[in-house]
Amino acid sequence: MNKDLMIEKTKLFVKDKLEYEGSGHDWFHIERVYKLAKYIAQKENADSFIVEMSALLHDIDDWKFSNTNDTKTTVTENFLKSINIDNESFKKIIKIIQTISFKGGVVDSTQHTIEGKVVQDADRLDAIGAIGIARAFTYGGSKSRIIYDPNLKPIDFKSLNEVKNSQNHTINHFYEKLLKLKDLMNTNTAKEIARKRHKFMEDFLNEFYSEWNFNEQY
Ligand code: ADP
Ligand code: NI
Repeated sequence: MNKDLMIEKTKLFVKDKLEYEGSGHDWFHIERVYKLAKYIAQKENADSFIVEMSALLHDIDDWKFSNTNDTKTTVTENFLKSINIDNESFKKIIKIIQTISFKGGVVDSTQHTIEGKVVQDADRLDAIGAIGIARAFTYGGSKSRIIYDPNLKPIDFKSLNEVKNSQNHTINHFYEKLLKLKDLMNTNTAKEIARKRHKFMEDFLNEFYSEWNFNEQY
């Protein structure tokens, strides 16, 4: 099977699995990350095939949706074997997928290849800006979390269980993760895109607090 066909097969596989995912990790998230990753790969001279495949498959075995905290990628591995991908590409893609996630900042998610850096940047860009805001509240809602509680300050997470099970409110997620992402971008191309999206989140938070504290202004 040639590489273009593998990519097409992968798109169908992922679309079928994530089309109606309800926590912000639906097929359109994958498609946006895929397009961003492809764009950044071209600017940064990364191997487009590895980048495209990893972007498409990066949320298939997500730790947030499994009962354990390990980085098992069984579903992805079985799929890659089913399309007879070469061993070298297999290893590169799996390595990226197993290490890409932020996981509350409690594990090391450093990427050591340009392909990993590109996919991680693309995934992180889709977590900030207007779309990032929409996704954060969708994720919070899917976990029955409230929008905001002024008495509950951001948490400095120490373990994956804490990240996964905390009954946090979603505004805290901006301080625990989203506002940090701008400075964690790997590539210059992504840093540039992140700047505007970051500013939009800051403006959003300012407006949010100003509406929240309505009475104090009048
Ligand atoms: P990662 O695995 O690095 O967290 P994903 O792309 O799988 O990246 O998912 C991140 C998305 O889920 C982001 O849009 C993020 O805002 C959202 N998300 C994750 N945890 C929370 C949370 N505790 N509150 C709100 N949104 C969250
Ligand atoms: Ni993702």
